[in-house]
Amino acid sequence: MIERQLWHPVALIEDVAEAPVPVRLLGESLVLWRDDAAAVHAWTDRCPHRGAQLSLGKVVNCEGGARLECPYHGWRFEAGGRCVEVPALPTFVPRPRTAP
Ligand code: FES
Repeated sequence: MIERQLWHPVALIEDVAEAPVPVRLLGESLVLWRDDAAAVHAWTDRCPHRGAQLSLGKVVNCEGGARLECPYHGWRFEAGGRCVEVPALPTFVPRPRTAP
């Protein structure tokens, strides 16, 4: 478990450009990616759908902003982490996750 209340240097800012960047931190695989507002995100490098490595995907710019696209089934995640597109179901609109 990574202490998430602390800052940990994992990459040079200039290394986080257009493609997702895989990094390891304290035994955990993370993906770094930059959105269209130039904000850098650090997520667990594992797609919530079937566990593919998100760092093997790509950043795509869409109408609603940049998305991190999973390389396996192409699910797209907005900067807040929510899945917003499922290519196999083009008319499906994923619901925001609700608290249990
Ligand atoms: S494993 Fe990522 S979209 Fe299916």
